[in-house]
Amino acid sequence: MREILVTSALPYANGYIHLGHLVEYIQTDIWVRAMKAQGHQVTYVCADDAHGTAIMLKAEANGVTPEEQIASVKASHEADFSKFLINFDNYHSTHSEENKQFSELIYRRLNDAGHISTKDVEQLFDPEKQLFLADRFVKGTCPECDSPDQYGDNCEVCGTTYDATDLKDPHSTLSNATPVLKTSKHYFFDLPEFEQFLKDWTRSDNRLQTSVANKLQEWFEAGLASWDISRDAPYFGFQIPDTPSDEPDKYFYVWLDAPVGYMASFKNLCDKRAGTDQALDFDRYWAQENEHKTEVYHFIGKDIVYFHALFWPAMLAGSELRTPTGVFAHGFLMVNGEKMSKSRGTFIKAETYAEHLHPEYLRYYFASKLSDKVEDINLDLEDFMQKVNSDLVGKVVNIASRSAGFLVKKYDGMLSEVCVESELLEDITKTGDEIAAAYENREFSRAMRLIMQCADKANEYIDAKKPWSLAKLEGTEQEVQDVCSVAINIFRQLMVYLAPVLPELTNNAKEFLNLKDLSFASRNEWLLGHKINKFKPLMQRIEEKDIEAMVEDSKASLTQADAPAATESSKPAAKEKAPVTNADAEQTDYIGIEDFAKVEMKVAHVLECNHVEGADKLLQFTLDVGEDKPRNVFSGIRKFYEPEQLINKKVICVTNLAPRKMKFGISEGMVLSTGEPKTGLTVVTLPDACVVGDVLA
Ligand code: 2FM
Ligand code: ZN
Repeated sequence: MREILVTSALPYANGYIHLGHLVEYIQTDIWVRAMKAQGHQVTYVCADDAHGTAIMLKAEANGVTPEEQIASVKASHEADFSKFLINFDNYHSTHSEENKQFSELIYRRLNDAGHISTKDVEQLFDPEKQLFLADRFVKGTCPECDSPDQYGDNCEVCGTTYDATDLKDPHSTLSNATPVLKTSKHYFFDLPEFEQFLKDWTRSDNRLQTSVANKLQEWFEAGLASWDISRDAPYFGFQIPDTPSDEPDKYFYVWLDAPVGYMASFKNLCDKRAGTDQALDFDRYWAQENEHKTEVYHFIGKDIVYFHALFWPAMLAGSELRTPTGVFAHGFLMVNGEKMSKSRGTFIKAETYAEHLHPEYLRYYFASKLSDKVEDINLDLEDFMQKVNSDLVGKVVNIASRSAGFLVKKYDGMLSEVCVESELLEDITKTGDEIAAAYENREFSRAMRLIMQCADKANEYIDAKKPWSLAKLEGTEQEVQDVCSVAINIFRQLMVYLAPVLPELTNNAKEFLNLKDLSFASRNEWLLGHKINKFKPLMQRIEEKDIEAMVEDSKASLTQADAPAATESSKPAAKEKAPVTNADAEQTDYIGIEDFAKVEMKVAHVLECNHVEGADKLLQFTLDVGEDKPRNVFSGIRKFYEPEQLINKKVICVTNLAPRKMKFGISEGMVLSTGEPKTGLTVVTLPDACVVGDVLA
């Protein structure tokens, strides 16, 4: 029996779980269940990643303390995970006593061994908010191509990577203030000292996928740099111990204590289980001398390889702890072949999905797509429906529904005493070895293909024997029972093979099959002279309308206010594009209520509305907003309105936007409409009773 500790990346405590996240949790959960079914002792832990500026600001925007913020997000994460049958042995938080202790321990050991140094760092500082600005909180004009409104790390227009201090006309996205340069002392972890260790580590024992090892090779060639592990107050995190008192308080950068959270969650579990028959020994998994007795695996997204395959093993080795046995990276999720999109309704929250569709559909679909490669996977919603309906409902469940009825009705649920097709059954039992290997190697798509081939064989067998026709003939009682018993036996095998992917369905099947166990080994005992229970439908077909409703709900539910906040990633030590997390696939920066309050909207009376010569998208408005002079406003709604439809209407005008110079004149505001510029816009009109110039509150 192998002793294995498994983790998934820790989700940030400032946003909801969406389908992009679920790729990883479902992948890990399937692997853990498959390894448990093989009889190994597997422990699966995770936690919320609770620290950092983004979470601190999110709490502030929500008007709660960071502690309240992370507690409520943790509860929602746990609820989502449980809906998707993610079976953690423990779910903890990085804002925990265990994590503080281990982070300090690791830091102290690194420091004692001379791996920590300090350096003065000059950084942009928001004088209003009184905090140093991470790159994502600074915007300005690209120093290379002069495009306005670019983030502090790279230009989305020309792709140039730069330092935030290079931006022209920078402003803080938090307060709009012009940042100033300020120097403070930072703490650095000496990554270059670990170069040789990391090179050896990367190439030994098949720890990493080939493409990941190659990526690391590129990073080695580009040269490693020391890693900035400190952030100045105010910061939500753990204070760095023993720092000089004449400096602002120093905190561990969130990415320092995040992976330590794996250990912390495991320790928390060890303490919970102490003295029980499931007790776990912490040191057996983390002490350096036990490195070969137990196995530790991290499942992660491809965007955070840098942290898990460089910083983390170096931190562990430098503090005399064991390093991971393997780090398994997966690709991102695309929906309908494109990046997830809020406007298309394909940025789907776990919660929204679960309101419309059974989580096991998604578990199966992801399984049918996942391999051991770092490739992006595509959730094509049409293909999703067809695959689930045809494979699970049409092939697998059908085997039982076609044969159980006869057995229950005519034979009181008794299966035959002998198996009349032992070759077929042996063949399917043998395929189980390949399926088990595919699971272990994370080739889930291969496992699903093999399982469906077995299902095809069963259906071909039933089609050839036609028990429904046989049953009408005289003297065929035994044959009908034999055929149906073979089918039920194959169905049982399939349930064993699918149990890691479909725990709920297979659990219900276990009741129907009247079995205690669906472990992998159990498949070797055939069900002979065994009594089954009445068959109940195990899975419904996916209906197109459910998918449509989910997409519509996703469009509606993803308002600015509950979109994921900016997450915190760091510029890696080598000059490599800063990692962007899957959670950021479509990024929205939160604004606080105070920012929203800055927008002034007034009731406006449309005095005139005209076409604009030479502009096929624009209408020109003359608006009375209760000021001395009417305002001139251009709006891109020409395609959807004739001017007459809007004259004399009451509309909403944003009145405190900076005037914008356009080819056709100056626009002094914005008329609010709903919808999408491509497909249709509707101007928001107000009842006549609204008073011109009144502010919308
Ligand atoms: O990228 C992210 O979403 C991080 N919260 C993952 C952390 S994984 C581990 F290192 F904690
Ligand atoms: Zn540029």
